[in-house]
Amino acid sequence: MTDTPNATTIEVPTTSKTYLCRVGAHILSQVGNITRETCGGTKACVVSESHVMPLYGMEVMDSLKAAGYQVVPAVFPAGEASKNLTTLGELLETVANYELTRGDVIVALGGGVTGDVAGLVAALYLRGIKVVQVPTSLLAMVDSSVGGKTAIDIPQGKNLVGAFWQPSAVIADIDCFKTIPHELFTDSCGEVIKHAVLADLELFKTLQKTPLNSGELDERAMANIVARNIRIKRDVVAADEREQGLRQTLNLGHTIGHAVEAAYHFKLGHGSCVAIGLCAMARASAKKGWCSQETAQAIEDLVRAHQLPYDTKIDHEVIEEYATHDKKRRGDSITIVVPTKIGSVTLRKISRAELRELIDLGCGSGRQP
Ligand code: GLY
Repeated sequence: MTDTPNATTIEVPTTSKTYLCRVGAHILSQVGNITRETCGGTKACVVSESHVMPLYGMEVMDSLKAAGYQVVPAVFPAGEASKNLTTLGELLETVANYELTRGDVIVALGGGVTGDVAGLVAALYLRGIKVVQVPTSLLAMVDSSVGGKTAIDIPQGKNLVGAFWQPSAVIADIDCFKTIPHELFTDSCGEVIKHAVLADLELFKTLQKTPLNSGELDERAMANIVARNIRIKRDVVAADEREQGLRQTLNLGHTIGHAVEAAYHFKLGHGSCVAIGLCAMARASAKKGWCSQETAQAIEDLVRAHQLPYDTKIDHEVIEEYATHDKKRRGDSITIVVPTKIGSVTLRKISRAELRELIDLGCGSGRQP
């Protein structure tokens, strides 16, 4: 697949599978051909949710039909609340009723919830069938559609049930951003800033010059930024598909971020919570001498330039409690990701007492939101 003025292709090599991510503007019409080239098969089941399907379902299904597929839809109610065992069970029954075989394909059309649930359906049905991810949100494009993590939530916690199941292709059409509410787009910028801090000084500078949610970026600049994020994620998952080491760096900002998210009962967006966690860890790291004060300030300034929250007034005991119940904790220690300078991070294994010290150092001085 060659690069064109409006689209670029990124190869993602992982231990279990190598696949292509196509990123550009106005490329939903390529879903059929790319699916045909990468998956083959007879039937394509388009799994989507009730907001996205009316927006983009027709174009994607027409493209699949034009590529010779018998196309069947499976739609569930939009929202994180649908990311549960009931939806998973219903979707599995739907694809079974459509009699999809191991040679057929699931096309996941939507944001992070859709990619996670449809990916898990693909991982489980017939012990695994192919899935093409067609992310329509910024968060799904730069993070969840790449790397093969699939999951649903259960009452005991978010993403507690899942599988690593790599897609056969990812098709990210930035034209879909035009239907995303500004606040949701802004929220997702938290993950983009996280990527810049952990691996890409040039991206950080680009965002400093023009915030991603400023409305001042043209299609090409936006597509370049999305592609840059996918390359960052690609480099990490290619080195560590199953999160044994390097992939943990993608959790930058997530230890405190997840705790804040849980403390707000998931009423504050994930990217906003990551932004808070990122700034808190940067402030604490500066005070511990792990990074400079300038680095911490630059991170906070970039977060603020994107109109994202940068601190929290939640009680430190509460943050500590939620953070130590994180599913990524191993034994009595917790691995945190520390920014050392812009574009570089390190992993540190710390005790619960050290985590509390970092929370005390990083949280509460700005006291917002
Ligand atoms: N979102 C973090 C990861 O994919 O590992």
